[in-house]
Amino acid sequence: MKHIDKVADMAAVSGRLASEEKSIGFVPTMGYLHEGHLALVEEARKENDIVIMSIFVNPAQFGPGEDFDSYPRDLERDAALAEKAGVDILFHPSPEEMYPQKSDIRIMPGKQADVLCGASRPGHFDGVLKVITKLFHLTRPERAYFGQKDAQQLAIIETFVRDYNFPVEIRRVPTVREKDGLAKSSRNVRLTPAERQEAPSIYEALRKGSRMLRETGDADRALKIVRDGLALIPGGKTDYAEILEYPSLRPLTAESQEAIVAAAVQFSGARLIDNILVAMD
Ligand code: PAJ
Repeated sequence: MKHIDKVADMAAVSGRLASEEKSIGFVPTMGYLHEGHLALVEEARKENDIVIMSIFVNPAQFGPGEDFDSYPRDLERDAALAEKAGVDILFHPSPEEMYPQKSDIRIMPGKQADVLCGASRPGHFDGVLKVITKLFHLTRPERAYFGQKDAQQLAIIETFVRDYNFPVEIRRVPTVREKDGLAKSSRNVRLTPAERQEAPSIYEALRKGSRMLRETGDADRALKIVRDGLALIPGGKTDYAEILEYPSLRPLTAESQEAIVAAAVQFSGARLIDNILVAMD
């Protein structure tokens, strides 16, 4: 596996690969890898000549008072996992390398970013689109892989790529979970043992709510079930629980084909998110 930490080197290598007509599958991450990230690599490995993974804890997508400084990092461990999973090139630039000057140009998502995590984390998705634009230009992927776990991020990136003609296919990868249902996340290591015991209740509440939605189509009742379930988590405070149309993230209507049942819960040292998609017919 090749390590690259300079922007110019990444651009040169992907340019060379493109001229050799090699297909590139790209897996952007913030590191502290777990099986969720590795599932993206596995998908990328199946359908591309070269797999590039980036590890970059992107300061632009963290708000003041959020966990940028304490975000877990371990490049050595990540590199071993990435190599074993079949990554060909690991791109891990520094913040100074990625953002050598303050840009006067802004990239901003629209209404899709006004709900769910976008409402709780103003500017977060601006930062995601900023780094994704740079990473796509630097790595020139034919396909890029994103987890359904971060469903709002995925929906916004799909819209961005479609509306602005990025020559990349966005691939959706299902959420990888622990045995007890908790969605794998780099932030799970920051749960206390008691919180770790309680955290699977998030998925449990989402499951009960989505079952109600699937069976009755009654979003109000389904949402109440989710909220009641989340309220029983002693160490976690519900940040949001919503049911919306997916991927538009608009209110659900009779015409909606797919719904997202989504929640965020704040524990003492970590804010966890999860969701379930429900086909509506
Ligand atoms: P990060 O949280 O490291 O996640 C990187 C990718 O892994 C995202 O596409 C995310 O949805 C996916 N992922 C995380 N947990 C998953 C799980 N349990 N199952 C399946 N996929 C999972 O998301 C980011 O980083 C950043 O916002 C990034 C896109 C890299 C931009 O900075």
